[in-house]
Amino acid sequence: MYRAVKGTRDILPDQSAVWQVLEGSVRRVFERYGFAEIRTPVLEETALFQRSIGETTDVVSKEMYTLVDRKGRSLALRPENTAPVVRACLEHHLMHGRTSLKLYYIGPMFRYERPQQGRLRQFSQAGAEVIGRDDPMADAELIEMLLAWLGELGLEGATLRLSSVGCAVCRPDYVRALREAMAPHLPGLCEDCRRRYQENPLRMLDCKVAEDQAVLARAPSPGDYLCAACREHFAEVRRLLGKAGIEAPVDPHLVRGLDYYTRTTFEVVAAGGVGAQSAVLGGGRYDGLFETLGGPPTPALGFAVGLERLLMALPGAQTAAPGLDLYLVHQGELGFERALELARRLRGSGLRLDLEGPGKPLKAQMREASRRAARYALIVGENEIESGRYQLKRLADGEQVALGLETIEQRLLAENRGAGTQGASPPQRGSAAGGGGG
Ligand code: HAM
Repeated sequence: MYRAVKGTRDILPDQSAVWQVLEGSVRRVFERYGFAEIRTPVLEETALFQRSIGETTDVVSKEMYTLVDRKGRSLALRPENTAPVVRACLEHHLMHGRTSLKLYYIGPMFRYERPQQGRLRQFSQAGAEVIGRDDPMADAELIEMLLAWLGELGLEGATLRLSSVGCAVCRPDYVRALREAMAPHLPGLCEDCRRRYQENPLRMLDCKVAEDQAVLARAPSPGDYLCAACREHFAEVRRLLGKAGIEAPVDPHLVRGLDYYTRTTFEVVAAGGVGAQSAVLGGGRYDGLFETLGGPPTPALGFAVGLERLLMALPGAQTAAPGLDLYLVHQGELGFERALELARRLRGSGLRLDLEGPGKPLKAQMREASRRAARYALIVGENEIESGRYQLKRLADGEQVALGLETIEQRLLAENRGAGTQGASPPQRGSAAGGGGG
């Protein structure tokens, strides 16, 4: 028997309602802030990620799913979607004639990591990218949006961690200082750290080896080496967040796993963690990425949230699958024929219903009606056909009435209108990860 590939997961029908609700909330909230959806391919040239994320990052050096196609081209399953969005902006001249652009996406990403709770090889991200804005208001507004969204979803006790990693001007000073400080400790550090010391010292801060942590915790932080412009930008971001009532403690050693970041970077950590992982979301500025990928200087920033991790962190996210409005239970050949006609008409008017094939016992059909979480069963037998009145049975309490088709149709449609939805109920509203932030 075949099984799903290690680190990948099926989302079965009883879970897909939760996903639809979550994805719906992404669209609703992000669009409220002026973001429009972009859908890029899952396959990209490998070089796109090598250039943007950085050759020495774990994501590129260890975790990419790459393949060689039949013409010998190296392609990769996207490990993230910021680089593809920038690629698409440049390829389609999306910034042509405009000052800024707001894009969002929802979709699968792929990283060859060791699977564990909250860590998958195929996972889903929802992300938002603000392109063409260098003002601190853009940073603050993006963070405000994501916290408001998390708050609407009912995520409680999440913490925002904020940092600034500087820019092309001040980064070299910091790297020099980091190298100087780490040089005496090198012999005691892991092999990865020693390699990173040479290739990309900032990545040393990303080290997961427990024994190295003590040394790295004492390393200088990028925040201490910011140039005047970066310092000012960061101070303004924090001031604006404060004005929005958002508490954003600075975490001087916040390290993001991707090399393209400049200035503001941030993560949101769920209370209690999500499995072995803690960050549900990460993001920041990438003011140099357009140029790195051959475009004109274009400041930009964004974030992406891991939807599996977010679901793990959300209380009561186990919304039941949406049921049917109606299950047609038919008796005899004539009953089946009539049920088919009724189904066609009622589906045509927008009701969700289903029915079995011919020849199934009545009892089995009634059992199926409950299993499918139908609100009503409608019995279609010879008597009903003759009288033109059908037995409509409400499954919650067993109440049964004989009604004409027209009345049944009107009643069910009115109930749906009253419920305001056709599908899963929206997630609970209220409490804030937003606002307070901490
Ligand atoms: P990232 O921090 O690499 O950033 O990923 C963002 C989120 O994706 C993480 O916080 C986590 O929730 C989720 N995630 C990452 N890897 C896995 C995994 N193996 N299994 C489950 N969830 C995972 C980015 O990807 C950037 N592109 C974010 C960004 C957008 N920065 C600027 N714009």
